[in-house]
Amino acid sequence: MILVTGGTGLVGAHLLYNLVNSGEKTRAIYRNEKKLRQTKDVFACYTNNYQLLFDKIEWVQADIQDIPSLEAAFNQVTHVYHCAAFVSFEPDKYALLRKINIEGTANIVNMCLEKNIQKLCYVSSISTLGKPINNELITEDTHWNPENENTVYAITKYGAEMEVWRATQEGLNAVIVNPGVILGSGIWKYGTGSLFKKAKKGIKYYTQGKIALIDVKDVIDIMTRLMASSITNQRFILVAENWSYKKFLQNLAESVKGAIPNKLASKGLLSILWRLDWLAHKLIGKRRQLTKHLCVSLSAEKNYSSDKIIEALNYKFTPIEGSLKSISDQFLKQDQ
Ligand SMILES: NC(=O)c1ccc[n+]([C@@H]2O[C@H](COP(=O)([O-])OP(=O)(O)OC[C@H]3O[C@@H](n4cnc5c(N)ncnc54)[C@H](OP(=O)(O)O)[C@@H]3O)[C@@H](O)[C@H]2O)c1
Repeated sequence: MILVTGGTGLVGAHLLYNLVNSGEKTRAIYRNEKKLRQTKDVFACYTNNYQLLFDKIEWVQADIQDIPSLEAAFNQVTHVYHCAAFVSFEPDKYALLRKINIEGTANIVNMCLEKNIQKLCYVSSISTLGKPINNELITEDTHWNPENENTVYAITKYGAEMEVWRATQEGLNAVIVNPGVILGSGIWKYGTGSLFKKAKKGIKYYTQGKIALIDVKDVIDIMTRLMASSITNQRFILVAENWSYKKFLQNLAESVKGAIPNKLASKGLLSILWRLDWLAHKLIGKRRQLTKHLCVSLSAEKNYSSDKIIEALNYKFTPIEGSLKSISDQFLKQDQ
């Protein structure tokens, strides 16, 4: 029996489709029944007859912060994909980010150790990697630097990785994947899916930094191959292509038939904008959208190398241009 956490999110839902479609006995945890709709929406991107496959999943209500609820979820499980996380860049959410991402992951790996789970696959992020000197390619050996301008999200994803590495020292077999920005269909309300909506409405500006991209189908494919392999206790960067934000936002706009962004948001402009965002938050309680650390990352010219996974699995990534086109087509079809 395979257990998936985060099955109502983008990665977990696409993974669940892949697993049940391959005939795997699969259990998934959920927190709120309403969110199961999202998993169905993702399944509907693959097939009209999605309910049949959806019904093959054994759903258990559990929260990764709540150890007793995880007990039932781990019953008879042999393999675990831990995709659940709280994704937020708001400094005010730091305490909750720590609770869900670090303590929640500690609960998952402790449960894996207690239940003698054969293998865990943990979905981390490229945000846990460091910043190289002289703009060299970032690899799995570019280590975290606490002195960098790290986002609150990155700090907690790094803390979560530490929990996984600690568990491997205690005997757990685990692999960690570090994807870049994941593009996929089915969830358009938030996350990367919401970018398609925003691009259709029209985005005016692009930033001067670079964005590391990967198709969700590649992420899932690699995760399942790593789980089936004898590879353990290693992490892998998953980035198909490094694009400039300009190229990404212009291609995205073209694919969803939105206005093409043609104005550069310079570092100077961004530094004014994050201060205004902070002020609006302090004065009228507006939710933070642009933080100082996020602006640094939007302007950073980072390039990630996926050579390690390409070599380990002889992997060929899906070209991003094609992914962007097919996800945009799906978006336009569903956004009627
Ligand atoms: N999307 C990306 O571009 C990207 C890039 C790199 C890495 N990642 C990583 O990939 C993983 C999956 O990301 P995603 O895009 O699929 O995120 P997502 O769409 O935001 O989904 C997050 C999932 O985690 C679940 N979750 C959150 N808190 C939980 C808790 N306390 N207990 C149980 N489940 C909880 C959510 O459940 P609810 O539906 O109940 O909220 C949801 O199923 C995350 O670890 C993320 O850090 C994502």
